[in-house]
Amino acid sequence: MDINEFIVQVALPEHRVFAEEIVTEMAESAKARGTGIAKRSPDYVAGKMIEGKAVIAFHKDGTWAGFCYIETWSHGQFVANSGLIVSPKFRKAGLAHAIKEKVFDLSRSLYPKAKIFGLTTGLAVMKINSDLGYEPVTYSELTQDEEFWKGCQSCVNFDILKMKERKNCMCTAMLYDPATQKHDAAKKFAEELQKKPRLYERFMRIKQHLVVKPKPKSGLKALMFLFTLLFHK
Ligand SMILES: CC(C)(COP(=O)(O)OP(=O)(O)OC[C@H]1O[C@@H](n2cnc3c(N)ncnc32)[C@H](O)[C@@H]1OP(=O)(O)O)[C@@H](O)C(=O)NCCC(=O)NCCS
Repeated sequence: MDINEFIVQVALPEHRVFAEEIVTEMAESAKARGTGIAKRSPDYVAGKMIEGKAVIAFHKDGTWAGFCYIETWSHGQFVANSGLIVSPKFRKAGLAHAIKEKVFDLSRSLYPKAKIFGLTTGLAVMKINSDLGYEPVTYSELTQDEEFWKGCQSCVNFDILKMKERKNCMCTAMLYDPATQKHDAAKKFAEELQKKPRLYERFMRIKQHLVVKPKPKSGLKALMFLFTLLFHK
């Protein structure tokens, strides 16, 4: 499958007829991965399309292929590109990359001063974010807007987040800060992961161990040390 077979565009109000299909796929994919997800309703997704704050992708034959939308927090100081989903039959063709790039550009043009962030357990998303200039950060550097964190309540890992007093969880936090762009560190992180595919598995294993350990402070310190190792090798 070739990326040229797809059309990736800012979603229009008439695309809301795809909202149900998108939400169903989001829920089914989360179930298949056995990971957490912040639940969305078809109305919410349709609202994003109507506001011009979403990106949708189609195969040339008109089949829906992928989606992602913009959310703002802390009165527009933070932006998240959330709900990334690619239809299973169109995966591994570079479509998530193309969608994230488009929604990133849309976010930058709508909110040029905002910090753009993401929370993810997925390697694909970590890679894409790194390419876009995001870097791993601690949770304290993300929005502290209560509404954002409420979205985690429907995640299977919510008890861990609560136990860790919102300082850490299974997701890796990544941030693009237009004021202090450190593209190099993020790129190095992505290259390191690409060179050593087993590194990611090890990283997640260690992280899981640290996150469930009953010493939050030392766990967090060790995690940051791990990031330092990844960056400065
Ligand atoms: C994650 C997801 C969006 C990736 O979509 P995709 O179109 O297959 O991704 P792309 O083809 O653009 O791949 C992007 C990069 O990630 C890699 N990648 C894709 N799927 C991967 C996977 N399951 N595991 C590891 N790496 C993966 C690709 O090799 C590519 O790396 P490269 O740039 O070094 O070549 C898709 O699998 C999906 O919709 N999953 C379910 C929902 C989900 O997990 N959303 C993310 C929530 S944070």
